[in-house]
Amino acid sequence: MQSPESMGSQVISANVAFYKEIAKKYDQYESCASEEFYQRMLESDLDKMKALLPPGRIRCLDCGGGSGNLTIKMLNRGWIVTVVDVSPDMLEVSRANVSTAGYTAEFVNDSIYHFLSSSQDTFDVVAFSSVLHHLYSPQDVVKEVAPRIKPGGFFYSNFDPVPPSSRLLASCFYNLDTILANILHDREDFFPGIVRRFRKLTLARHADHERAVASPGDLAEYHARTGLDDRSIAEVLEQHGFLISRQRYPVGRTKLMLGANRKLRALLSFKIMAQRNDAHILHQESLVLKTGNE
Ligand SMILES: C[S@@+](CC[C@H](N)C(=O)[O-])C[C@H]1O[C@@H](n2cnc3c(N)ncnc32)[C@H](O)[C@@H]1O
Repeated sequence: MQSPESMGSQVISANVAFYKEIAKKYDQYESCASEEFYQRMLESDLDKMKALLPPGRIRCLDCGGGSGNLTIKMLNRGWIVTVVDVSPDMLEVSRANVSTAGYTAEFVNDSIYHFLSSSQDTFDVVAFSSVLHHLYSPQDVVKEVAPRIKPGGFFYSNFDPVPPSSRLLASCFYNLDTILANILHDREDFFPGIVRRFRKLTLARHADHERAVASPGDLAEYHARTGLDDRSIAEVLEQHGFLISRQRYPVGRTKLMLGANRKLRALLSFKIMAQRNDAHILHQESLVLKTGNE
């Protein structure tokens, strides 16, 4: 049995390898960075935070910032952004996208956990867009990040799966959705993707990770199939004095599957927007406490 540190390192290495393969096509392929509906959701969430943040200079940490989708939306609002990402290939894409948009940001090639433990910096907004399920131990990262958010500041996380009510239904849905997304956006990977799926069926489960590992993606998106417990993540934040808004909603990589999933609810994602409480915001209009479903 390997130590949690060694398992965590393997997941980090898998992310580096995975994004080396897909960094260049990420923006066309990944719905959270390309679908109009999700872009509107991100813009609206940032607007809500902006309305509740204290006035003045806003400093953000975009954890696992990837190709820069959320980073650029933050920069658009005049915020100062540090992007930390373990993948040098994704950071290269982000640098180019940020520069094309006419902005500058600070780029750090590191794992989130190591970045946090090697500095004392604090931020007004710390964001994870489609990142928590890539971390071996997301709860530990949330515990580490919570005290680094300034009073009145925000923790924001989006695009992470919740544990499915039926693993079989979720698995069928996920595979079909991915195959359709490949046909639409990544035809070159259509046959290799099918081969990977069949290979996985024949491979023995990895003893420590309790899954067949046919390619880096099987470890990189570590909690993609099992989901994350959004309630316990919210509890960690509550313990640090955050007011929580938590929402679950149906997802799909393709419009067809998203429409079907609104009825089926085979795969749900969650988002958490949490504001760190502070004596002065108790007297102001603060984040409306709610837990909801779309
Ligand atoms: C699905 S992408 C999300 C990218 C971007 N946030 C977005 O919304 O499109 C996940 C990103 O997290 C990064 N990542 C994964 N594990 C990480 C870790 N431990 N530390 C820092 N970045 C990590 C990956 O390299 C990748 O860029």
